[in-house]
Amino acid sequence: MDTDRIDGGDDVLAPRVFLIKVARQVMKNNNYLIVDPASQQAVLVDPAWQIDKIHAALASTRSTLSGILLTHAHFDHIDLAQPLAEFYNCPIWMSRREIEASGFHARQLVAIDETPWWVGGMRIEPILTPGHTPGCMCYLIGNNLFTGDVLFIEGCGICNGPDAAFEMFESLELLKARLHPDTHVFPGHTYLRPPGQRFADVLGHNMYLHFPDRHAFAAFRLRKGQSESRLLDFR
Ligand SMILES: [Fe+2]
Repeated sequence: MDTDRIDGGDDVLAPRVFLIKVARQVMKNNNYLIVDPASQQAVLVDPAWQIDKIHAALASTRSTLSGILLTHAHFDHIDLAQPLAEFYNCPIWMSRREIEASGFHARQLVAIDETPWWVGGMRIEPILTPGHTPGCMCYLIGNNLFTGDVLFIEGCGICNGPDAAFEMFESLELLKARLHPDTHVFPGHTYLRPPGQRFADVLGHNMYLHFPDRHAFAAFRLRKGQSESRLLDFR
């Protein structure tokens, strides 16, 4: 199946998370459709590559697309944002800092800060987590965190230089301080383990969450041979 419900929650009012696996050539991305069961409104995270799969996911869940959440402006995360926003007449949300840093623009683009808002019965809580890019945003929806290329199950996104690596260290420390152990983690790419792992389990799999200081973290994150690692998929 291309669209799988993977949140596993028992609460009938909790947001439902559907994974849409998409690919183009060597690039493999996780898109997520999050549906509010009360209103059937939905949001989509980082749509790319295969628009038919996204249309099919919306149809099969009988949900209405109310907006598109972008974690950052890399091409494999924004690819379908504009055509989908035009087709469904909905906003595209991205952090103001990421818009300013990247120059990304679209008619439907809405710049956001960390102020939460509601889509139906779903509270969307943005968490600014720079490092992979200057304005990376994670999104907490119910008990689910969508992390883009900030936090993977077994790693974290690449960083372009020491200052970016220092920012990434602080962002990961922020997530460690804020996340509940039972929060489910949904990255933009997965490698060995599937998305939706509990944060407590991610802590056990991910060495990037255990460096003692930003200098040790940066030395490892910036080691040679890592620049293309985000494009690989070892599933
Ligand atoms: Fe990226």
